Amino acid sequence: MSKTIGFLGLGHMGGPMAANLVKAGYDVHAFDPAPAAQQQASADGITVVDTGVAAATDRDIVLTMLTNGKLVRDVYAELLPAATPGTLFIDCSTIDVADAKVAAAAAHTAGHRAVDAPVSGGVAGAVAGTLTFMVGGNEADVAEARPVLEVMGAKVVHCGGSGVGQAAKICNNMLLGISMIGLSEALVLGEKLGLSHQAFFDVVSTASGQSWALTSYCPVPGPVPTSPANNDYQPGFATALMNKDLGLAASALRSNGVDGQLGLLAAEIYDRFNQDAAGRDFSAIVTDIRDRSEEKGAQ
Ligand SMILES: NC(=O)c1ccc[n+]([C@@H]2O[C@H](COP(=O)([O-])OP(=O)(O)OC[C@H]3O[C@@H](n4cnc5c(N)ncnc54)[C@H](O)[C@@H]3O)[C@@H](O)[C@H]2O)c1
Repeated sequence: MSKTIGFLGLGHMGGPMAANLVKAGYDVHAFDPAPAAQQQASADGITVVDTGVAAATDRDIVLTMLTNGKLVRDVYAELLPAATPGTLFIDCSTIDVADAKVAAAAAHTAGHRAVDAPVSGGVAGAVAGTLTFMVGGNEADVAEARPVLEVMGAKVVHCGGSGVGQAAKICNNMLLGISMIGLSEALVLGEKLGLSHQAFFDVVSTASGQSWALTSYCPVPGPVPTSPANNDYQPGFATALMNKDLGLAASALRSNGVDGQLGLLAAEIYDRFNQDAAGRDFSAIVTDIRDRSEEKGAQ
């Protein structure tokens, strides 16, 4: 508990994660260039400082929750020379596996320790402290990160060495994107065939086509009252983020020579949908499939 923490990136996810560390008694010094994030963080009892270097200097642990891999690499290049040797860097951002490995290697070369620890669970999980962390790094570093991650999450899984936490995140979200598209196609086909959404749900939720996308996140209003479909597809998990994750998965499929035809197609489908619907929940893909089906039917 005596450990001091530097935190960079107080956005939708990082803000509540840092707030939960303060609630648990940690001394958190944080930086984010956005004034709104700074104000919220101050209100949450976080010590807000003027630069990333100030946040990372003289800390035991430095956490980052940033938007992309280039930013993580740039921020690491700035912070690593300033941090006390042996500082544990924990990157919770969702980034490319290759970027995660480069960032961890840079930290090791500078005499520090590093783990990648991307999350699932969204903003609600960040606020509630119930995130799942997928962690990549060596045993000793993951063991030291674990108590801090357990404050912000309900589950911490050590997936393997550097970058393997990101690998788990990308694999999971590729599967989620594929399954949401497949489910949406089946729902629209059911509509055309006269099957009600509720009847579809009642059968498929206990049959072999069952999935998390259906039972926890049903993309049509009604069967799962908490799903974003019941709230005009307000995210939730925005299409822009699903598009980013599928882009990372597609590049990993290509660079590793995997014949991932559905993964590549899912990336293409969400990339197109993202052009008009970046801010909508990713489950709104069902409306796009329905609209396109109407156009096809009218031809
Ligand atoms: N939002 C979700 O539901 C969700 C779920 C799982 C994972 N993620 C991942 O978590 C990461 C963060 O997502 P988010 O939704 O919080 O994004 P966000 O855009 O809300 O937050 C990013 C924050 O980083 C800040 N920032 C930019 N440059 C900085 C710098 N040099 N130093 C410090 N801070 C800087 C920004 O001002 C912003 O507040 C992403 O990689 C995303 O893919 C998000």
